[in-house]
Amino acid sequence: MKLFDVYPINDIQITHAKGSRVWDEKQNEYLDLYGGHAVISIGHTHPYWVERIESQLKKIAFYSNSIKIPIQEELAQKLGEISGKKDYQLFLCNSGAEANENALKLASFHTGRKKIISFSKAFHGRTSLAVAVTDNPSIVAPVNQTEHAMFLPFNDIQALEDAFKQYGNEIAAVIVEGIQGVGGIHVASNDFLLSIRKNCDQYGAVYIADSVQCGYGRSGKFFSHDFAGVEADIYSMAKGMGNGFPLGGIIISPKLKAKHGMLGTTFGGNHLACAAALAVLEVIEKENLIHHASEVGEFLTASLTSIEAISGVRGRGLMIGFDVPEHLKNLKKHMLFKHKIFTGEAKPNVIRLLPSLAITMEDAAYFIHQLKNAIEHYQD
Ligand SMILES: Cc1ncc(COP(=O)(O)O)c(C=O)c1O
Repeated sequence: MKLFDVYPINDIQITHAKGSRVWDEKQNEYLDLYGGHAVISIGHTHPYWVERIESQLKKIAFYSNSIKIPIQEELAQKLGEISGKKDYQLFLCNSGAEANENALKLASFHTGRKKIISFSKAFHGRTSLAVAVTDNPSIVAPVNQTEHAMFLPFNDIQALEDAFKQYGNEIAAVIVEGIQGVGGIHVASNDFLLSIRKNCDQYGAVYIADSVQCGYGRSGKFFSHDFAGVEADIYSMAKGMGNGFPLGGIIISPKLKAKHGMLGTTFGGNHLACAAALAVLEVIEKENLIHHASEVGEFLTASLTSIEAISGVRGRGLMIGFDVPEHLKNLKKHMLFKHKIFTGEAKPNVIRLLPSLAITMEDAAYFIHQLKNAIEHYQD
């Protein structure tokens, strides 16, 4: 059997990893500024994370949500403490798309309405409603197309006000990334997020903060929406949550009430996933990684801004993007194959940095040094 060929891949096999370093089968060492697409939060194969998963595995890996799973409550407690959302309720699932799918469904159950507002360049996942509110027609199958999705320009307060004036009583939810990731690292302005909050309150719609990529401390705060001082009704999370162990979840404001059977999943919240998620939060707390992400992020942003050949340096914490001119369009490739540094990208010609929150200042400085070298040596 062959693999279903949907991924444009680099011809590299990674055989082992530690912290912000990975090694290929020929023992070449790479620095990872991509974090496996923002997934590696506390560092590859963090020993505490490995140990917590191993010891859970020896006890029990999985049982269904038909029994009590105290480690879910332990996770909810810790997540409440670290995120500051102590009175929210946790629902666990397995991926970012699934988290958004559940958030949107819940908003519709809660309001009894159908319309969803989303924004230009948004990415919310590939399942049916998540992809319908994603601004990329090429990944929306005919069956996913729905008139319930409305796209407005990102960061445009007037367009938001106008849409609410026209359709306010039909709108179930507004879904917004605090920092757009796949769209090329665009930060939602504080005023824009405040305006979403205000309109949702006025018209009884649900504010969904898609924090799958920009959440979990990556921005230098637990949720990037926290910069605006707003409280969303639902936060969706995934990538950094398990440091590579697949899991996702939503946290839900107390004003949305649960009903048996309303949401559900077989695998979500299994013992092993909860052990991985708890290990991540414990390490984030113990190693003060959110503050660290903010400091290293500031250093990277300042250093990148001083490089003349690139422009549009933007982002927050360790979610950073910059534009690369046409004559340097292969910069990402050269960084990988010549300098052995993984970075991310967004179309067209944007480099995205999404390293582990534990990346050291030395590694960040090494990256800047090598980026300057690559810009100097490879003008193609
Ligand atoms: C903001 C955002 N939401 C949702 C998703 C979908 O997550 P997953 O691929 O885990 O389904 C992604 C993935 O890149 C994302 O960046």
